[in-house]
Order: sequence, then structure tokens, then C-alpha cells
Amino acid sequence: MSILVCGGAGYIGSHTVHQLVEKGEDVVIVDNLQTGHMGAVNPKAKFYKGDIREAEVLDRIFTENKIDAVVHFAANSLVGESMTNPLKYFNNNVYGMQVLLEAMVRHGIDKIVFSSTAATYGEPERIPIMEDDRTEPTNPYGQSKLIMEKMMKWVSLANGIRYVSLRYFNAAGAIEDGSIGEDHSPETHLIPLILQVPLGKRDHITVFGEDYPTPDGTCLRDYIHVLDLADAHVLAIDYLRRGGESNIFNLGNGQGFSVKEMIEAAREATGLDIKVEIGERRAGDPAQLIASSEKARKVLGWQPKFTDVKAVIGTAWKWHQQHPEGYQD
Ligand code: UFG
Repeated sequence: MSILVCGGAGYIGSHTVHQLVEKGEDVVIVDNLQTGHMGAVNPKAKFYKGDIREAEVLDRIFTENKIDAVVHFAANSLVGESMTNPLKYFNNNVYGMQVLLEAMVRHGIDKIVFSSTAATYGEPERIPIMEDDRTEPTNPYGQSKLIMEKMMKWVSLANGIRYVSLRYFNAAGAIEDGSIGEDHSPETHLIPLILQVPLGKRDHITVFGEDYPTPDGTCLRDYIHVLDLADAHVLAIDYLRRGGESNIFNLGNGQGFSVKEMIEAAREATGLDIKVEIGERRAGDPAQLIASSEKARKVLGWQPKFTDVKAVIGTAWKWHQQHPEGYQD
């Protein structure tokens, strides 16, 4: 039996495929390569270039392969873009999930692990954030992911599909040998932008606001290594295979780092100076986003291995040094 990874050519998808392959699983990938990269496709996986919004693409994959479970990453994920083009997010993310679930029902595939986000919570009501805290997304990206979770919930009740939704906090880092990593266009995430300064691609990093109610005035985030996220997907598949009930888990380290602390850690990880400028707040940024991942530790047996933020940045640095222009495809 194989595992279908939708969006397996993306950042977190490609790292998850790597961990699945390492574990000896047969992996099938479908990706439209709109934001994914051919260079991120694992050579040991079977690859279909196609869009999950096309039922025929999924019918062909489910007919040609014996699929046991689906891991679903195929979505757009830029908060800023979702504010200016919300319908892109409702079409690709929400409609994509509809077509995927319809195909799973048609083909009798009953397990799905879903790539969700801390953005489903919106402005947190308390720190650390627990899975049953209020979910009031402040952008269409987070809203689309919350709707996708609800779709799985109702389909699980009606059609017997079981799901695990994994709400990531701030995904960071790259595989240790630097062979795959983060490559977004445009890049909006803090760590790759910081590292563009020592790479010589950017003169300075702009800190978006230093007047937040936090110890140094800059936003606190919970950075979690992409391989630790990948491991959680592997554990979630095992959990569903054991008959585990549908569930939602936060994935973070449970520790907040400020933007200024991240820049300092990047200076130490690279051994190079990083010029900083202070800018305005970015609209929609909560002061703090820190996860409680106790539930994932307890129920899934998840144990993040990368707990040192400097080491996390070090893995990203290795990837960016080896691939200063990303995948170039
Ligand atoms: N930041 C800067 N300067 C930059 C870029 C980012 O100061 O040039 C700051 C941001 O203001 C924020 C922190 O760095 O305080 C982290 O920003 P990212 O854009 O890297 O990540 P976010 O916390 O905004 O986003 C993450 C995920 C999203 C998810 C969101 C939930 O990447 O997918 O958390 O709110 F939606």
C-alpha cells in the first residue's frame, strides 16, 4: 500500500516525503508545481504532475496505485497574498479539499493527514495556545485552512474518513545535508529573509515593529524544525492506521523567540554580521504565537529533536549556502 502526498514538491511536503521514504513507505506524489519545485521531488517517490482540483487526475492516481492514506499539503499559504486575493485561497485550498475528499469517498480511502496552521486561531486568547482555544482567523489563508478542517470533520461523520489535522506554528530549517529546503517566491518568512543578508542578496533585514508588548518589543514566534513537523506526519499516519479517532494537534516547540533574538541567533549560526533596520508593524501580526504541543506529545508520542534555535537556523543556512538561488526551476 502507498501513501499519496498531495503537494509533495513543496517545503514541508518534500521533507515529509523524505521521512516517509526513509521509513520504507511507498510514496506517490501529486503536485501541480505552481509553488512546488521539481528539484524537491524525491527520486524514490512516484510523481504525478497534476492539480488536485481535477477529479480525473485523482481518479487516475487512485486507480493506478493502492493508496492507504493521503497526506495533504497542496495549498497556497501566503497570508499577505490571501488578503489581496482571497478567492484564490477559497478556490485552490477549499475547493481542492472538496475534490480530494470526493475522490477519497469514491475510492474508499479512509485516512487523511492534513497540513493546517496556527493561523486558524487568529489573535490568540491565551498563551500557550491549546487545540480547543477559540478559532477566529484574521486572514483568508487561515480561514481557508479552518474551513478545510471543518470539511474533514463533516465528511468523517458522514463517510467514515478519519483525519488528523496538524496545526503548525513557524516551520523553519532544512534537511541536515542541505539537499532540500525552503524556496518561496516571493519570500516573506523571517529566517530566509534574515539569511539573505549574509548571503549578500539583501542589505539589511527590517524588523516589523518594536513596540509590541513583549520583552524586547518584537513579536514572539514558536519556531519548529521542518523535519520535526515531517516526523509528526509519519506518527499521525501510524496513529490512524492503529484506528485512532479524528483529531487536531498543535505542532511547536512551546518556546517563543523574538524577531531580534532570531537575528542574533542567525549572527551566531552564520558567524557573520547582519544589518538591521526597524520598520513599521506588519498588518495582522499577533504579538505572540506559542503552541502547547502537549497533546501531540501525549497522543502521537511526538518528540521534537531540534530544540536549539541556532541549530535550526544552521540547517537553513546550509541549504541557502548550497542553493543561493533556490531550486532554479
Ligand atoms: N518579520 C520581520 N521582518 C521580516 C519578516 C518577518 O520582522 O522581514 C517578523 C514578522 O513580523 C513576525 C515574525 O517575523 O513577527 C515571523 O514572520 P513570518 O512571516 O516568518 O511568519 P508568521 O509568524 O507571520 O507566519 C507564520 C506562518 C504562516 C501562518 C502564520 C500564523 O508562516 O503560514 O504563522 O499567523 F499563517
